[in-house]
Amino acid sequence: MSLSAFATCPPGFEPQLALDLARLGLTGTPEPGGVRFKGELPEIAHANRGLRSASRVLVRLGMPFYARSFEELVERAARLPWGRFLTTSTPIALRVTCHASRLYHSDAVAERILAALTTHFGAEPVQGVFDEDRGGDAQLIVVRLNDDECTVSVDSSGAHLHRRGYRLATAKAPLRETLAAAMLLSSGWDGRAPLVDPFCGSGTIPIEAALLASGRAPNAVRPLPLVRWPCASGIDLRPEIPIETAPPETPFIVASDRNAGAMEAARANAERAGVSRWITFHQHSVSDAAPLPGVGWVVTNPPYGQRLDGPDLRNLYARFGAVLRERFAGWSAAVLAGDAALIRQTRLGLTPRWSGDNGGIAVSLYQGVINPGG
Ligand SMILES: C[S@@+](CC[C@H](N)C(=O)[O-])C[C@H]1O[C@@H](n2cnc3c(N)ncnc32)[C@H](O)[C@@H]1O
Repeated sequence: MSLSAFATCPPGFEPQLALDLARLGLTGTPEPGGVRFKGELPEIAHANRGLRSASRVLVRLGMPFYARSFEELVERAARLPWGRFLTTSTPIALRVTCHASRLYHSDAVAERILAALTTHFGAEPVQGVFDEDRGGDAQLIVVRLNDDECTVSVDSSGAHLHRRGYRLATAKAPLRETLAAAMLLSSGWDGRAPLVDPFCGSGTIPIEAALLASGRAPNAVRPLPLVRWPCASGIDLRPEIPIETAPPETPFIVASDRNAGAMEAARANAERAGVSRWITFHQHSVSDAAPLPGVGWVVTNPPYGQRLDGPDLRNLYARFGAVLRERFAGWSAAVLAGDAALIRQTRLGLTPRWSGDNGGIAVSLYQGVINPGG
């Protein structure tokens, strides 16, 4: 049974997510907020386990329909093929958004969807708890009304896909794992050349880099709600044996930060992710950053103001730029930052590749090849 799926991501990251899907052999069409693709259940399970930059994967329940009144909504929603995804005992949680529609009150729409479920199953649905970040016991159902058109989807991921399970220790202003992966995927890094993150914090970029280089699925072992769907009965949805590519034998990723607590967190997280053998950790300031032999990539996320205060950020960016020009000539740089004026302080001539949202802060990825002359 081919299903219509939608891998979601924060606005701005759709092109990276489309590349991410393509790496799994799935073709998708970017739409605002994600990428739409078609797949059988095993492919949807594979996307959940293998996508590095998606927030979650939703599966559309039936076809979208027009609902300009509550009567129309209940009548049409009751005809959706709910039984493929739920039983009468499945606890559910609803998330409703309404945009430019006659039915604009999301709580009232949620009430009518519950009424539609009661009509469909002949019994009131059991309501449960679902947390966007952590998941929960309930099956999340997402209802979107857009220009009077109602689309109902079921969530196949559970906890947000950035929750890989390794980052139990955090430092200040950690980057979402999915965003770190999107940076790496679009940086052009080949997974073989040396990679340095001189502002590594809790180690998210170096760890995601090592997972990418070793070909490991980032969510290989997470529980997926889709295995409980009635339509999954009898289908083998166990994880495929991970394809491990062979990264270099020696550590080829450097993680450094001036903060001792951050370095402790980075080491512990890398250990938990099973990738510490590829990463060298140093506690020092960016002024002491040094390249590895060869030509590689600096992929990093320096402090950017709103979330970290303290030192003079303009001086810090100027120093960072000077260090790269002195010691990393010929390397490529991919720097995530919230402020173009700070990036100009580096005098590296980096240009914005894409912009998106990181926890409510607008950020851009600036890229370029480091030239000693700036
Ligand atoms: C935005 S955070 C990086 C977050 C990281 N990507 C993560 O996921 O946890 C910036 C980091 O820069 C570090 N930092 C600030 N000034 C520094 C300096 N002069 N040299 C090295 N690290 C510095 C901070 O300790 C902080 O961990």
